[in-house]
Amino acid sequence: MLGKDLTSLAKAQGHECLLTDLDVDITDEKAVTLFLENNKPDRIVNCAAYTAVDLAETETALNYKVNAIGPQVLGKCAAQKKVPLLHISTDYVLNGNPPAPLNPEDEYHPVNAYGKAKMEGERFLLESGASVWIIRTAWLYGINGKNFVKTMLSLMNTKEKLSVVNDQFGNPTWTVDLARAILTVLQSGSHFGIYHFTGEGITTWCDFALKIQELGLQEGLLSKKIPIEGVLSSQFKTAAVRPSWSALSKEKIKSTFSIQVPKWEDSLASYIQLEKEHAGK
Ligand SMILES: NC(=O)c1ccc[n+]([C@@H]2O[C@H](COP(=O)([O-])OP(=O)(O)OC[C@H]3O[C@@H](n4cnc5c(N)ncnc54)[C@H](OP(=O)(O)O)[C@@H]3O)[C@@H](O)[C@H]2O)c1
Repeated sequence: MLGKDLTSLAKAQGHECLLTDLDVDITDEKAVTLFLENNKPDRIVNCAAYTAVDLAETETALNYKVNAIGPQVLGKCAAQKKVPLLHISTDYVLNGNPPAPLNPEDEYHPVNAYGKAKMEGERFLLESGASVWIIRTAWLYGINGKNFVKTMLSLMNTKEKLSVVNDQFGNPTWTVDLARAILTVLQSGSHFGIYHFTGEGITTWCDFALKIQELGLQEGLLSKKIPIEGVLSSQFKTAAVRPSWSALSKEKIKSTFSIQVPKWEDSLASYIQLEKEHAGK
């Protein structure tokens, strides 16, 4: 989802950009080394991950392999070839308490297997000796992947009412905004370290869903308004526990790279327009 939007934007900005998928398995050191030797990139961006948060509770080996060993391999290869590496991580390595948004320097506090493996991946990278930027993001949606916005629009068109969790707080993020931020960081070639980037503003999944409904109705993607009720996480059991507070502070990325962070509602409105174009409406 992120990789495709990043590649399109990079190409639109005039960068030569190679998009790989499972053809370069990030857990295979030989494959990564060969790819770097053949292509000699001057930056590497890792958008690859195992992102099935609930399945990760049972597919523990694959989750660890992709989310921890993958970054370890990339860090080792990037250090050997002296190529700066930008890695994408997640708010799920943290969990805190309101009201303050979480800072990149806050202590790790993963509450599920996915968050733990992503934390290990970060640690491997920080120890690798490579020049690394780690950007943690959250609640990502984009035109090229399965995501909360698409799921909600589909359910709102088929169900009579919906229940959505209203005791988890975070920041929705559009892949296009994140891709812009990534390109700015890459161009700097400096200030390696951990950063946070998400949409601006804190919300709950339920309020996020209400905004999707409002915009979906406005843009003709939804034909009827249905009741949406807030429920507690304890009433909506999932295999993986989610952090109750993973709102991220963007102060560091804003002040270091002069990056502007759009309000999540504005980005959602742009994304819904894109969905409308794709639906041919
Ligand atoms: N989605 C979110 O809400 C969210 C939130 C916070 C952070 N993030 C992070 O943001 C980044 C991008 O997420 P996304 O939602 O764009 O992910 P995504 O759509 O699930 O894409 C991940 C890609 O990685 C590929 N992949 C899996 N194992 C691989 C391997 N061993 N070698 C090479 N490629 C492999 C997957 O291929 P297959 O599909 O063929 O397996 C998939 O194309 C990830 O680091 C994720 O952890 C995402």
